[in-house]
Amino acid sequence: MRNLLLLAAAVAAPAAAQEAPITAASPDGSIILTVATDNDQRPTWSLSRKGKLLIAPSKLGFILADRIGLQRGFAVESAERAKSDTRWELPWGERRFVRDQHNELLVRFRQNDSWGGHRMNVRFRLFDDGFGFRYELPEQDGLKTAKIADEITEFDIAAKGTAWWIPGGEWNRYEQVYQETAIDAIATAHTPITMRLDDGTHLSLHEAALVDYSGMWLKRAEGQKFRATLAPSSRGPRVVRDLPFATPWRTIRIADDAAGLVESDLELNLNEPNKLGDVSWFKPMKYVGIWWGMIRGDWSWAEGAKHGATTERTKATIDFAAKHGFGGVLVEGWNKGWNGNWFGHGDAYSFTEATPDFDLKAVTDYARAKRVQLVGHHETGGNIAVYEAQLDDAMKLYGGLGVGTVKTGYVADAGGIIAPGDAPGETRMEWHDGQRQVQHHQKVVETAAKYHVAVNPHEPVKDTGLRRTWPNWVAREGARGMEYNAWGAFANGPEHEPTLVYTRMLSGPMDFTPGVLSLEGANKAPLASTLAKQLGLYLAIYSPIQMAADFPETLEKFPRELAFIKQVPADWADSKLIAGAVGDYAIFARKDRASADWYVGGVNDATPRTLTLRFDFLDAGKTYTATVYKDGEGATYLTEARHRIAYETIKVKKGDSYTLWLAPGGGAAIRLAAPR
Ligand code: NOJ
Ligand code: CA
Repeated sequence: MRNLLLLAAAVAAPAAAQEAPITAASPDGSIILTVATDNDQRPTWSLSRKGKLLIAPSKLGFILADRIGLQRGFAVESAERAKSDTRWELPWGERRFVRDQHNELLVRFRQNDSWGGHRMNVRFRLFDDGFGFRYELPEQDGLKTAKIADEITEFDIAAKGTAWWIPGGEWNRYEQVYQETAIDAIATAHTPITMRLDDGTHLSLHEAALVDYSGMWLKRAEGQKFRATLAPSSRGPRVVRDLPFATPWRTIRIADDAAGLVESDLELNLNEPNKLGDVSWFKPMKYVGIWWGMIRGDWSWAEGAKHGATTERTKATIDFAAKHGFGGVLVEGWNKGWNGNWFGHGDAYSFTEATPDFDLKAVTDYARAKRVQLVGHHETGGNIAVYEAQLDDAMKLYGGLGVGTVKTGYVADAGGIIAPGDAPGETRMEWHDGQRQVQHHQKVVETAAKYHVAVNPHEPVKDTGLRRTWPNWVAREGARGMEYNAWGAFANGPEHEPTLVYTRMLSGPMDFTPGVLSLEGANKAPLASTLAKQLGLYLAIYSPIQMAADFPETLEKFPRELAFIKQVPADWADSKLIAGAVGDYAIFARKDRASADWYVGGVNDATPRTLTLRFDFLDAGKTYTATVYKDGEGATYLTEARHRIAYETIKVKKGDSYTLWLAPGGGAAIRLAAPR
């Protein structure tokens, strides 16, 4: 790993027997954790911040499938404290350096013999911008394998407020429009769930380091009390693990405002360091593709007269990419097996054989000669039994041909993953975020890494910060992306992207696929977006691989917008939210990693607004040339006026301010070029 800068070594205090309650504080003392046991000797935790109760006493433990659970009869055996302050480097990302400053409390619980006599440790980490804990089940007599029927981990939110969330356990996975409700109107939700308490405190409940375990949904038990519920498994217990093991971290980002929530690196800090070492073989990039035509229905993935992935079209798209400096060309539908009913079945897919009209060797040779990479594609139809059998061969083939990134896909209803069974030849249906599918994604990422290939799953499991450990896991979908706009007028709605920024995007990079400059999907279905918003998306929704999703010939009809898309980086030295409110609008300032330039921009909801942006973040003493792309007068997503855009070039210095009007469904993008 590059440049690990150790500012202060971890200091651990020796174990000591301790009576509950035990408290621990975040480094600045603002967040206080209390760990205790209740009258039934159930372990509990609670949290306060700046003297106010945030999480009322909430239970910890497990329901086990084969014995009395890890629920009651516990006493604290010992507690251990540590503190740490380090800085580490992201090989690519929204920022280059991340500070990890936290205080740690490890509590060892022991159950009395009448309740099973088991041992359960809970490791808590307190940061100034949040908090996390995980269970660690140590090696012990009498419990070799944990068969977890469910967790009973609770989060009892102590103050009223508003929440932004999508339902968990629904047919369409994470691809849903976010709901904004009172906290006590949440049903069962996926994480991250975002909350704004009535006193303005912002929270995001999520998890970190989801490895060999089931994804956690949060189910409202009563009032504002939520209970973890793990994605089910066809094999009985929701999770089966041999001891010793640690669960994913259960996390809460905590901030005074929206910016504090967005800028936190809590989950990344709770993941293990890079296990791949030098990953300079992955280069952040922008890409185009043979894609929007299939999504709109003009072309097909399947072979036939409308087949999109032909050698000829791929070469033409490579020519376009080379001419404009795009790093990649995505080609979907290149392989055999799409001709059947691929949705949710995928039993005919080959991941190594191309259709007769697509010459994989010829197009990859052509791409290499033009310094462009093919972006590979593996749609599985959710059939991981078929995919896993070919996985090594498929990644080896792509790796050998210089395909640096593979987009994978798991199109199937929730619970529609066809996984290898326990007996030979047997298959089982699993959830997209159950333990089996979590193991699958891990296998894909590790296999791809062997061949220096990066992955970008669609219909994925949610992101929990694993890109820190496996930096070839570069992006994923995991929310409603641009594609929905091809399928209906205003399909994603103007609030969608300014909500994603504060919800889905807190988990990690998204392959949203911006850049539909025509502002229309199939049958001229209009997007809930102005033209400037399409550029603002490159600042609002981060990914190290950013698509320009529209047809190449459409992109070329917009030379000024195309010029911005070509310039905007996909890799940043730093990122700040300089204006925004959850679900309403979001304006970022991001500093290029490769130059001294800054970029500003973002997205708005349906309410027009005028902002005063302050360029406080710029380097002192430099005069920047700002090229502004903003909503034109009278622009609105509601009518043809969505195409109205205005341009401006001005000089700005640190501390200057700029008045920006955002249209309904609008956005803006500004390139701030430092003096050369
Ligand atoms: C759904 C994905 O989101 C989309 O990008 C892809 O083109 C199709 N599945 C086919 O794999
Ligand atoms: Ca999708």
